[in-house]
Amino acid sequence: MPVPNVPPITWRESGAEQPTRGAPASTSATPSTPRLGGSGHAYEQQSASYDTEAGGGLFAADEPVVAEYLSDREPGVALDAACGTGRFAEFLAGRRHQVIGVDSSPDMLAHARRRVPDGEFHVAALDQLPLPDGSVDVIICALALVHVPRLQPVLAEFARVLRPGGDLVISDVHHKVVTRGSVIKARGPGGEPRIAATYRHGLGDYLRAALSLGLQVRRCEEPTATGTGAPLPVPAGEIGDWRYWPWSMMGYLPSAAQAAGRWPSLVIWHFQLSAA
Ligand SMILES: C[S@@+](CC[C@H](N)C(=O)[O-])C[C@H]1O[C@@H](n2cnc3c(N)ncnc32)[C@H](O)[C@@H]1O
Repeated sequence: MPVPNVPPITWRESGAEQPTRGAPASTSATPSTPRLGGSGHAYEQQSASYDTEAGGGLFAADEPVVAEYLSDREPGVALDAACGTGRFAEFLAGRRHQVIGVDSSPDMLAHARRRVPDGEFHVAALDQLPLPDGSVDVIICALALVHVPRLQPVLAEFARVLRPGGDLVISDVHHKVVTRGSVIKARGPGGEPRIAATYRHGLGDYLRAALSLGLQVRRCEEPTATGTGAPLPVPAGEIGDWRYWPWSMMGYLPSAAQAAGRWPSLVIWHFQLSAA
């Protein structure tokens, strides 16, 4: 099978928050642009199918955990940071929060606006939130930090806009899953294969950034998205289109997929900003 012409893998052998692969277009993005991380192009193309694909099982893995973390939280001002199509904006609105959503992709935001008509939505980068200091009670940021090269500037923005005692819930793709090659695919302007810039944030990267900003750890879970008890299916004969890798390889080598499925798929944090 021919290997697709994807951009080169860029590995650094040491140091935290290592990039995996990056589309060339992303390398010129600056932290102040909404396309930080080079994922904007990919999400423009994914906005129509994003919800039907349900994050490859990740939605089912993070939603119960997030709901449990926030079960005691009184309604207030709630930010869905990198809201995408508004999955958690809708969850927060259902719990009577006053919802604000931000995302760098206007296409994803168009879906969120339809889904939560009473919400307030902005095109914005995670490290430049268009919100005043201390104005938000709850932040949920799901499946997005994997696209930012450094956690510190984003977590600093979250800490700035949170009220003292406010909750920050982060669900992110586990760094072990990124290491296995789970990246968002897209097409370039000429239809060529592209991969959104994707970064591995170790658990220590989150902790160092959060603790330095006065964000205290309340909970941390590392759920898997796939079960391990089911009988193995008959192996598929094809690994399929490059856009579905590595997930299509799970059918090609079910035993390997089952073994890998024991690894966590997500890391889900509950932080709380220190009371003043
Ligand atoms: C996988 S989607 C997650 C959407 C939603 N939070 C959810 O869990 O369903 C990732 C989203 O993050 C957004 N995003 C990525 N990097 C961003 C950044 N630096 N600033 C704002 N949004 C960003 C993308 O546009 C995309 O909508």
